[in-house]
Amino acid sequence: MNIDVFTLFPDWFRWFGEQRHVRNAIERGLELDHVDMRATSPLDGGRVDDTPYGGGAGMVIRVDVVEAALEARYGAQRDHRIVALAAGGRRFDERLALELAAEPRLSLLCGRYEGFDERVHTELATDVVSIGPYVLSGGELAAMVVCDAVIRKLPGALGHADSAVEESFSEALEGAPEYPHYTRPVDWRGHGVPDVLVSGDHARIREWRLEQARSRAKG
Ligand code: ADE
Repeated sequence: MNIDVFTLFPDWFRWFGEQRHVRNAIERGLELDHVDMRATSPLDGGRVDDTPYGGGAGMVIRVDVVEAALEARYGAQRDHRIVALAAGGRRFDERLALELAAEPRLSLLCGRYEGFDERVHTELATDVVSIGPYVLSGGELAAMVVCDAVIRKLPGALGHADSAVEESFSEALEGAPEYPHYTRPVDWRGHGVPDVLVSGDHARIREWRLEQARSRAKG
C-alpha cells in the first residue's frame, strides 16, 4: 500500500515515519510519503491560503494549491481514494479503517487555518473524513490517526498475528469494544484477576471475553 500525506508540516510525518510500528509496516511493503504543499505551490513565495469570500476570520487553503500538489505527485491521472481531513466530514471508524486499508494507494490532505476551499472537498477529494466532533488546528493529527488505524490492518504490521483480529470493534468481537486484559501480579493491593482467566479453560475464557465485550458495547 502507498500512503501520501499532503501537508504544510512535513516534519510531523518524518517523525511519524520513524516510529517502530510504522517502520515495521514500511519494511513489509508500506510506502509512506509526504508532499509539502508549500513547495509545490504555484503562488509566489510558497503561499497556500487566501482570505475567505464573503468575509470572516481566518484564511482558507486554495483549491489551485491543492490541485498543484496533487499534480506534482501524480500528474493528471488520479484514480485512487483522496481523503481530505476536515472536522465536518464522515466520522472515521473501524469500518472505514478496514475499507481504506484495502486500497492500493491513498492520499491524505491536511488542512490548516479555516480549512480547505470547499471545492477541494467536492472536486478534488473522493472522501471528507473527520476523526471526531471537535476542531483541531489542522488535519495532520487526524491524518496520523487515520494512518495509524489503517497501518494496523495491513498484514504483518503487528507483532502478533492475532492482535488485530480480536481487537476492539473487530468482527471477531461482533463490533464491540475489546474485553478487559490482566497480567501479573495476580493480586495487586487486594485487587485480583477474574478466576476464569487463570482457570486454563479456554472455552470458558473465550465465552467470558465475548460476554465482557458485549456488555461494554451496551455501555
Ligand atoms: N481538521 C480539524 N479538525 C478535524 C477533525 N476533527 N477531524 C479531521 N480533520 C480535522
